[in-house]
Amino acid sequence: MDGFKESGLMKVGSYSSMAELDDLDLSRLLDKPKLNIERQRSFDERSMSELSINVRALENYDSMCSPRGFRSGFDTPASSARNSFEPHPMVSEAWEALRKSLVYFRGQPVGTIAANDHGSEEVLNYDQVFVRDFVPSALAFLMNGEPEIVKNFLLKTLYLQGWEKKVDRFKLGEGVMPASFKVLHDPGRKIDTLIADFGESAIGRVAPVDSGFWWIILLRAYTKSTGDLSLAETPECQKGMRLILALCLSEGFDTFPTLLCADGCSMIDRRMGIYGYPIEIQALFFMALRCALSMLKHDAEGKEFVERIVKRLHALSYHMRSYFWLDFQQLNDIYRYKTEEYSHTAVNKFNVIPDSIPDWVFDFMPNRGGYFIGNVSPARMDFRWFALGNFVAILSSLSTPEQSMAIMDLLEERWEELVGEMPLKITYPAIENHEWRIVTGCDPKNTRWSYHNGGSWPVLLWLLTAACIKTGRPQIARRAIEHAENRLLKDGWPEYYDGKLGRYIGKQARKFQTWSIAGYLVAKMMLEDPSHLGMISLEEDKAMKPLIKRSASWTC
Ligand code: GLC
Repeated sequence: MDGFKESGLMKVGSYSSMAELDDLDLSRLLDKPKLNIERQRSFDERSMSELSINVRALENYDSMCSPRGFRSGFDTPASSARNSFEPHPMVSEAWEALRKSLVYFRGQPVGTIAANDHGSEEVLNYDQVFVRDFVPSALAFLMNGEPEIVKNFLLKTLYLQGWEKKVDRFKLGEGVMPASFKVLHDPGRKIDTLIADFGESAIGRVAPVDSGFWWIILLRAYTKSTGDLSLAETPECQKGMRLILALCLSEGFDTFPTLLCADGCSMIDRRMGIYGYPIEIQALFFMALRCALSMLKHDAEGKEFVERIVKRLHALSYHMRSYFWLDFQQLNDIYRYKTEEYSHTAVNKFNVIPDSIPDWVFDFMPNRGGYFIGNVSPARMDFRWFALGNFVAILSSLSTPEQSMAIMDLLEERWEELVGEMPLKITYPAIENHEWRIVTGCDPKNTRWSYHNGGSWPVLLWLLTAACIKTGRPQIARRAIEHAENRLLKDGWPEYYDGKLGRYIGKQARKFQTWSIAGYLVAKMMLEDPSHLGMISLEEDKAMKPLIKRSASWTC
């Protein structure tokens, strides 16, 4: 047994709060003086080395996660008065638009609507509060010292989780969290009611696997940001977490620690060939497990989950770091793979046929850099780049520090392809022609370089920025934000952009898409005050470390 397992399991048995277990002790932080982040000059004036020193200092310093009141100071227009830092004029516009997207339930704000696009004829479900879409809104509010709405949202979705969920005559797992919900106002009877969608109304009828993970991640962000441990410690939140975990930690026919998923079960919620073991879900799964580990009580019910999480994290990190990782060396190794290897001595464990490696990846792969590929399953490696999964891998420390650096190197080396004129490609490259027909089922919304198929999504800016700060490379984020500032407001905060360089407003993109607005605000606030990173980032767990050679991983 390795060190990680032991260190994790040893704690089982005694009650330990989130503060004790987590990488940084929250309770101690409550009375710690705040790190004084210099605000005299904007980050644009500071050198990169200064900032990376700052970030490193922050990482070693508990104040990174210190509970904050109104720290960031990006309040609706007046913020500049509190800081010498002069915010971009877009910032106040963004706050105004974000506040217009608020959704109220019986007088209390409980979330933000997906898009506030009055010009659009087709509302579809963009008038709902999506769990995944609310995450950047929630972070913006937390960073601005407004945690109430986040708490309301967490409680409201927790309540919805308790509903019986059915598609036709088939009952879904108890722990499933909704993809979205809507508040119905009855002005006559003065009553607000909720309706929720767990996938039973969604196009394609797929349940959102990511919702539960985002919920756990957000609960930790709330706890980190406010220092309020009491919410996560309520029996309701503890049960909610256990129900989500029960869905993904059960044993069955699986031979891999990754989570088997249907196409369309996450941000990419249409058929895009991500079925199997998509990186987005694996990275969120890993992050949610780590967040849950820090919040679960070690009581009679929680203890068993803690043990299962520790074991799963160990296996999952090994699997991901070994088999999903691709760099020049690894690509060359796969290119030279032998096939049909039987037994535990096999190097090519999944029997990937080298002829199935697409041509583009040979040119795309720089000498410096690497990334987690989209999917790995028997005889199938999806070599596409997916931004969200890679950034969440950095934030959760699923990637080793070396791998995190390599992902950032890749971004720099392949800027045009991955960032282009409007940050940020959701996936690269697009699939076209015959492949598009087979993979998407001829989906007219997902034509090449559009929407989920190589479109550019401004919401991803916050994840990029967080990853940049974590890896000490804020200049990358700054460059991307500058691109966004040239267009986003002028274009009316579109949901996505089309084209190889992301130059065109998406064919069917909604305007005033809330997560485009919130994503921008979060990116700006994090750059201004990198200590915000703590609420959405987890430090490396040293005990999870060393990578054994692939042929040595087999055990009876
Ligand atoms: C689209 C996106 C999905 C998002 C929803 C609401 O369906 O694919 O990720 O949650 O719109 O914005």
